[in-house]
Amino acid sequence: MSIKNWGDVDAWRLLARRDSGMMARAGSVKAKRPDSSSAIRYEMSLVIKNLHACVRGGQEILCGVDLDVPTGEVHAIMGPNGSGKSTLSKVLCGHPDYEVTAGSVELNGQDLLAMPPDARSRAGLFLAFQYPVEVPGVSNANFLRAALKARLPEGEELDAVAYYKRLRKVMNELGMDPKFSSRAVNEGFSGGEKKRNEVLQMLMLEPLCAILDETDSGLDVDALRIVSQGVNAMRSAFRSFLVITHYKRLLDYIVPDVVHVFHQGRIERTGGRDLVDYIEEHGFDFLKKEDA
Ligand SMILES: Nc1ncnc2c1ncn2[C@@H]1O[C@H](COP(=O)(O)OP(=O)(O)OP(=O)(O)O)[C@@H](O)[C@H]1O
Ligand SMILES: [Mg+2]
Repeated sequence: MSIKNWGDVDAWRLLARRDSGMMARAGSVKAKRPDSSSAIRYEMSLVIKNLHACVRGGQEILCGVDLDVPTGEVHAIMGPNGSGKSTLSKVLCGHPDYEVTAGSVELNGQDLLAMPPDARSRAGLFLAFQYPVEVPGVSNANFLRAALKARLPEGEELDAVAYYKRLRKVMNELGMDPKFSSRAVNEGFSGGEKKRNEVLQMLMLEPLCAILDETDSGLDVDALRIVSQGVNAMRSAFRSFLVITHYKRLLDYIVPDVVHVFHQGRIERTGGRDLVDYIEEHGFDFLKKEDA
């Protein structure tokens, strides 16, 4: 399968999803714990430098993003509506609506911007969408099976029995009814069911760098806890997370190592968990004061 029409966003999404997590084995061979030498830290991380991007043929939205997420760490991104958080996540995955006009992005030493979306996915990138799309006619089970199959070395087959066993296990852990495996991807799913389904994909595909864009929105309190447990279970020295959220409640479950505040297309402030508490109490007024 290849992208023939870059305007075909559904095809893009299918491709972008199918191979995330491919590099896990390679990563486990090369990586050391994140507190080891800085050279290794640099290699095994997401490094964004002076990233500028605009809507194709339109306004600039990312205005010089600098961000370094070493492997093993969880970084949270907060920020006002419309500040460019989702645009950043989509640009990192190669969404065709956006054009990168300057800057660089490396994932584990690879030039991400030089790769088509499917190669970025094979390099270990995964995005849980803020607004997951429906893919009518493709069942959840077949979708994930195709994704896992596509990342196998040539000539190797996916063990169907083991696959379905694992799928059932992960769905059970996420509290998902097994019937969701035969339903078309996200079709007719409630808001919370879609978000849970995004996390199912992440758990099955085991990416090296996972971006969660407002995965908490729409989840009830029990689902929030279950989904957070799933994410926490995936935290490891070989994996990094970029968690975009508006709410402290998610970051109480998925405790970030670093917190960034996004504003007007760039990272305006970086800090620790106290920044989350400050924003929860005072909002983003401090950004306006800095603008004045
Ligand atoms: N494809 C597009 N066409 C036109 N404008 C766009 C497009 N994508 C993003 N924008 C604009 O870019 C700005 C940033 O949008 P983005 O979705 O990245 O914000 P956000 O920080 O994720 O906001 P929220 O917290 O509400 O999810 C907004 O003003 C949005 O309208
Ligand atoms: Mg957004």
